[in-house]
This record gives sequence, C-alpha cells and structure tokens, in this order.
Amino acid sequence: MSRDIRLFLREMIRRPGEVVALAPSSADLGRAMTEGLGPDTGRVAELGGGTGTFTRAILARGVAPADLTVFELNPEFVTHLRQSFPGVTVHRAGAETIASFCRPGLGAVVSGLPLLSMPRALQAAIVGGAFACLRPGGAFVQFTYGPRPPLAEPLRLELGLTVQKGRKVWGNLPPARVYIYRRAGH
Ligand SMILES: C[S@@+](CC[C@H](N)C(=O)[O-])C[C@H]1O[C@@H](n2cnc3c(N)ncnc32)[C@H](O)[C@@H]1O
Repeated sequence: MSRDIRLFLREMIRRPGEVVALAPSSADLGRAMTEGLGPDTGRVAELGGGTGTFTRAILARGVAPADLTVFELNPEFVTHLRQSFPGVTVHRAGAETIASFCRPGLGAVVSGLPLLSMPRALQAAIVGGAFACLRPGGAFVQFTYGPRPPLAEPLRLELGLTVQKGRKVWGNLPPARVYIYRRAGH
C-alpha cells in the first residue's frame, strides 16, 4: 500500500466528517478534473488537497508550482503536501477563506471538497469566495460520486452560474463525475 493511501485511510478514520471519501481520488479522476488546464491558465487554487492527487495532476498539466495555491484543513495532509510539492503554497485553512488569501484573477479552481455533505451556508461561502477570485470565464471544477450535481440548483442560480457536465470516471473508487461551473455569460 502506498504512503499516500496509508495516510489517507488513517485520516479518514480520525476525521471522517472532513475527509468523506473511501480512498484518495484516482490519477484518472485527476486528469479529468484538470482537462483544459495548462501553462496559460495562470494562477490556480485547489480546495481540499488531501494527499495530492489533484495537486499532482494540476502540475502535470504545466501549471507552475508558484502559480498553485492549495487550501487544506487537515494538518497531516498539509505537512504531506508541503513535503511532496515544493514551490506550491499550501495554506492550512478552510476553503471558505479563499478570498482572504487569493488575489482576483485566478484562472481555475479545482475542488476535491465533499461539497454536498457540507451545510448550505458553508457551500455558499466556499463557492462564492472562489468566484470572487476567479477571472471572468474562469472555471470552478468539482466532482461528485452521486447522480446529482455537486452544487444544489438554488445555490447555483443564486450565484449566477452555468453548469457543464464533464467526464464520468468509472475506474475511480467510487465512480465519479466531473462538473464545471462558470459565471453565466462567459
Ligand atoms: C474527499 S477528500 C479529497 C482529497 C483529495 N483532493 C482527493 O481527491 O483525493 C476531501 C478533502 O477536503 C479536506 N477538507 C474538508 N473540508 C475542508 C475545508 N472546509 N477547507 C479545506 N479543506 C477541507 C479534507 O481534509 C480532505 O483532505
């Protein structure tokens, strides 16, 4: 068993309410979450970095480490991310604080958060904060395991967002679907 998986399982048992997943995301889900990202995307934020599957995928697309900022609550994951990805900024902070750390103009936000299991006010703070930092046309990318989109419809409408279905990744445990949100009109 890899070090990432051992750490993930240990923290899942310690903090099930925060981790909310059976296993780290697969590399294939990482590729699906980062489709379209590249060296020209500019600054990117990742929410809920965990053991770094999406961090690795974002960097593999050509985003420079200095252009990537990760938000993660779990101190063990924060230490692991800082050791594994030198040059990437990792904040031990809730994703809802994104607007206090990131200047406007982000090219994309990639979220590994268990958004649907969060209270609605927290969802609104996280997604609203992300869009306060995203440039016009910038994408908020989120996966979910269930049949419903990861953002409740009333909240999507309230924030004025469009939604686009991305790829379904059958090989992930459990299978996951990617969704891409943008400001309406972009
Ligand atoms: C489902 S795991 C996903 C981890 C990783 N992105 C992956 O896909 O393997 C959710 C992660 O979000 C973190 N998390 C939960 N609530 C958070 C919050 N409000 N702000 C930042 N991170 C949070 C957890 O500690 C955990 O690492």
